[in-house]
Amino acid sequence: MTQPALSLDASPDLRSAFAADVRAGLTHTPQKELPSKYLYDEVGSALFEVITVLPEYGVTRAEERLLAMHAADIVAHLPHDVTVAELGSGSGRKTRRILEALCKKRPTSYFPIEISRAALQLCRRELGDIERISIVGYERDYLAGLAEVSKNRSADERLLVLFLGSTIGNFGRLAATRFLRDIRNMLAPGDALLLGTDLIKPTPVLVAAYADSIGVTASFNLNLLARINRELDGDFPLEAFEHVARFNPDARSIEMHLRAKRDITAHVGAAQLTVSLKAGETIWTESSHKYRAEEMPAIADDAGFVCSHQWIEKEWGFAESLLVAK
Ligand code: AVJ
Repeated sequence: MTQPALSLDASPDLRSAFAADVRAGLTHTPQKELPSKYLYDEVGSALFEVITVLPEYGVTRAEERLLAMHAADIVAHLPHDVTVAELGSGSGRKTRRILEALCKKRPTSYFPIEISRAALQLCRRELGDIERISIVGYERDYLAGLAEVSKNRSADERLLVLFLGSTIGNFGRLAATRFLRDIRNMLAPGDALLLGTDLIKPTPVLVAAYADSIGVTASFNLNLLARINRELDGDFPLEAFEHVARFNPDARSIEMHLRAKRDITAHVGAAQLTVSLKAGETIWTESSHKYRAEEMPAIADDAGFVCSHQWIEKEWGFAESLLVAK
């Protein structure tokens, strides 16, 4: 019996948006590119979960250590009576400590905002047993979901927005500040944002984190072309591409690319696209920007926040910054 291909039940709207983005990205010159958000279909999300436990990828464990160690202190620095909204909850595992510490003090509402329904379900299963928690998931874009949560709260509730995992790193530096400003515009003075950022570290360590020795990150990256083949009627020859991770010192980011090992011509039916790559040419699929803890106060200020506290994990190099809306 053949299994139906994954995610083919996605709505026609999402599929045509995906096709349009693929078309725009693969006709972009001189550098072909694909938006990193499409890495996270069901296969990609599962592969990312594996990445988080790889020895080379210290990001997730560093943040979990940080939150486990300092949850009580973080909560002590928050405004009273917070309602929690999380942007991109993922499995919810790292959020657990914060929510437990909050719920110990008083019953707390938690609104995970996710575009992935699978992740929302995981998150409800992972966190639903915390005492005195109320969980309502929003299957929406981050900003649309946050607008909804912000509008529905009562006047005496402060909002705590969680944006963990260094997801902010996927934005370019300017876009990151712009995004933080968009968040700020939905908040009231005194509301808070807890922002997780991976810190700059020696290039070989960074590169290894995105080019692991057993090829999980390579599979995660290649799955993007496989997904185009599955969902958009594409015919990319996957064996003719290789995964590349490299540090861009100007942007201070790790870039993931897919490099053509030979000249390739492929078609994407749903995007009415024929695309050719020369041997050695790449498709840029993701950037992961790295920060210095010391630059967060200026970034916060630019976006309308005050960086009131930071908690730093020094073993790997990860920061949690508490930004309070001005
Ligand atoms: C989920 C965006 C934080 O950039 O480190 C991991 C994604 N890509 N390995 C990151 C990712 C390749 C990850 N984020």
